[in-house]
Amino acid sequence: MNIIVVKDYSEMSRKAAHLFVGQILQKPNSVLGLATGSTPVGLYKELIKFYKEGMIDFENVIAFNLDEYLNLDPTHEQSYARFMEENLFQFINMKEKNHHIPSGTALEFEAECDRYEELIHNAGGIDLQILGIGRNGHIGFNEPDIKFEAITHIVQLDEQTINDNARFFNNIEEVPKTAISMGIKTIMQSRGIILLASGKEKADAVAGMVSGKITPELPASVLQLHPNVTIIVDEAAASKINL
Ligand code: PGA
Repeated sequence: MNIIVVKDYSEMSRKAAHLFVGQILQKPNSVLGLATGSTPVGLYKELIKFYKEGMIDFENVIAFNLDEYLNLDPTHEQSYARFMEENLFQFINMKEKNHHIPSGTALEFEAECDRYEELIHNAGGIDLQILGIGRNGHIGFNEPDIKFEAITHIVQLDEQTINDNARFFNNIEEVPKTAISMGIKTIMQSRGIILLASGKEKADAVAGMVSGKITPELPASVLQLHPNVTIIVDEAAASKINL
């Protein structure tokens, strides 16, 4: 694991953006793995800036998002499809047919999982995956006690995740309890991974991920086994790391 400790959220976002810009310059038809949540918003803002300045081109880039809530219409203001549109896709020239998000409203969820996994394989696999981390150590929606062998699948959200995500909804009852998520195995098959974390609320999960036992109880700990992971954390999120 390559661990980079930065001062704050802005520096974390800038550093991550540099790695993505490098990736796209090196391989203009890169396959990116994208994430939602508060963590990558700053990274997306930086990428939009680089795009507007003419430094990168998304014309041939392909993207796959990690996850989506089940049974939220893609137009729902908290769907991840809408999040991606509002925070990134509407500002860049990635072709619509090239950005993929699992469908939370598919008729057959199991078939949708298989379709999504196959799409990733047919695109040649993910070159660079961005991840956040939940306070419970989840990556994507792979909650504690997940099987490391899981590929894209249907998940029940952890109580802590539901509580954490309630801030985006009118009340906790509105938070979906299920989602479709790339599995740990899907994520581990990415050729490169960048995980971002900021704020002291993430400090325990980050410490467990980098220096704790590798265990499904803390799904992010599996990243210790990946040959090409860069963790970019601000000082608060890094405060409990024991190297
Ligand atoms: P956050 O979520 O970026 O909103 O903190 C991270 C995650 O749950 O993976």
